Amino acid sequence: MDVGVIGAGYVGLVTAVGLAAQGHRVRVGEADAERVAALQAGNVPFYEPGLAEVLNTVRGRGLVTFHASNRAPAEESAVVVLAVPTPPNGDGSADTSIVEAVSGEIAQYLRPDAVVVLKSTVPPGTTTRVEDVLRRYASTAAVVANPEFLREGSALEDFFAPSRIVLGSHDDAAIKVMLRLYSAFDVPVVTTDPVSAELIKYASNSYLATRISFANEMAALAEATGADIRAVMDGVGHDPRIGHDYLNPGPGFGGSCLPKDTRGLLATGARYGCDLPLVQAAVDVNSRQLAATVDKIRRAVGGDLRGKTVAVWGLAFKAGSDDVRESPAVALAEAVLAEGAEVVAHDPLAAPVNHGIRRVAAAIEAVKEADVLLVATKWPEFREVELGDVWHAMRGDAIVDARNWLDARLAAACGFAYYGIGGRIA
Ligand code: UDX
Repeated sequence: MDVGVIGAGYVGLVTAVGLAAQGHRVRVGEADAERVAALQAGNVPFYEPGLAEVLNTVRGRGLVTFHASNRAPAEESAVVVLAVPTPPNGDGSADTSIVEAVSGEIAQYLRPDAVVVLKSTVPPGTTTRVEDVLRRYASTAAVVANPEFLREGSALEDFFAPSRIVLGSHDDAAIKVMLRLYSAFDVPVVTTDPVSAELIKYASNSYLATRISFANEMAALAEATGADIRAVMDGVGHDPRIGHDYLNPGPGFGGSCLPKDTRGLLATGARYGCDLPLVQAAVDVNSRQLAATVDKIRRAVGGDLRGKTVAVWGLAFKAGSDDVRESPAVALAEAVLAEGAEVVAHDPLAAPVNHGIRRVAAAIEAVKEADVLLVATKWPEFREVELGDVWHAMRGDAIVDARNWLDARLAAACGFAYYGIGGRIA
């Protein structure tokens, strides 16, 4: 099928490349001319495993083209996917002005029987509003809510092997077009009304955030009782009704989605006068977890961070990504900087961050003369560093492992004061 994709960000580019790899003819509209030029040259402007390789394969077959204008993606396509930003407003609600502006712009180009697909994360009611915009510009195109569940660092894998496809529309013909578009997938399809489809995305991300905050809350109790959170969550996760995923304690959840979507859902609740105490608690626990980790770092250097050197391993919000948006690792580094510490950080891939954080090219370089080592992102390379070498390079003897990533017993055997999350402090 001929498909248009508007927006070549994380979601739009992965969707465009994935659909092209399935044989669809994809035209991508992107407002940032530099990004269009980079993509036309086969360069992906962010790190996503495997994406550059697949992009260049489908580009070579002429299955994907990039356009600075949305005209060709809109007028040449049976399906036009909107994957444009929906940034948070001050109150946490999602700003859908770009979605609505693009809808108004492409209306004039759309085929009468085209299907406009809302892939961006949009608050309940947006699909109907987009329909209203299209009708105002005399377009008869249908609109379908089709949220994505791609994780950064495994986005292509998640595209080709989704756990489910969610379609929200009252238009049966549009649903049929979408089922044809996604005919390569053999996964459950949840077909429902637009509002339910829009809410599925927020509910999914908010539930994942709630699990993480539950794990972090249990970690605090484990520390207080002398339990080992790893054993606790392993024991809990064997229950098939619960599972092990998203029960790993850490510095709190970050990234460009979970924080934004939990705040967005709370704003939706407030808008409809519906209190969401569980989601609010997940957000509150998340903030508390970050503060508790800063306390741990402060305690590890004797109670005062002024003049201390903090080595930070990891700045990306998670391993496998270069994304530092709402990264807990960056938040921790900035918090200790604000208390007068010096920060020396290493991350193999993370995008540039706050100038106050000195970046070095290797993990072992970051720990030189450091008073404490903070492990903030689960990069595999951090497990390869000999702790004996770290011991000799550091000035202090403390490790705050905010991801329980290193071997606590080995660290203790090397003489370190090891502070994990939710574990007995060795
Ligand atoms: C998330 C959702 O998983 C995905 O379905 C949605 O489409 C976009 O938002 P993403 O933000 O890319 O994906 O990353 P994810 O792997 O979900 O991690 C989010 C944050 O939670 C990261 O900071 C991660 O370190 C943290 N996390 C995750 C934990 O602290 N503990 C866990 O057990 C899992």
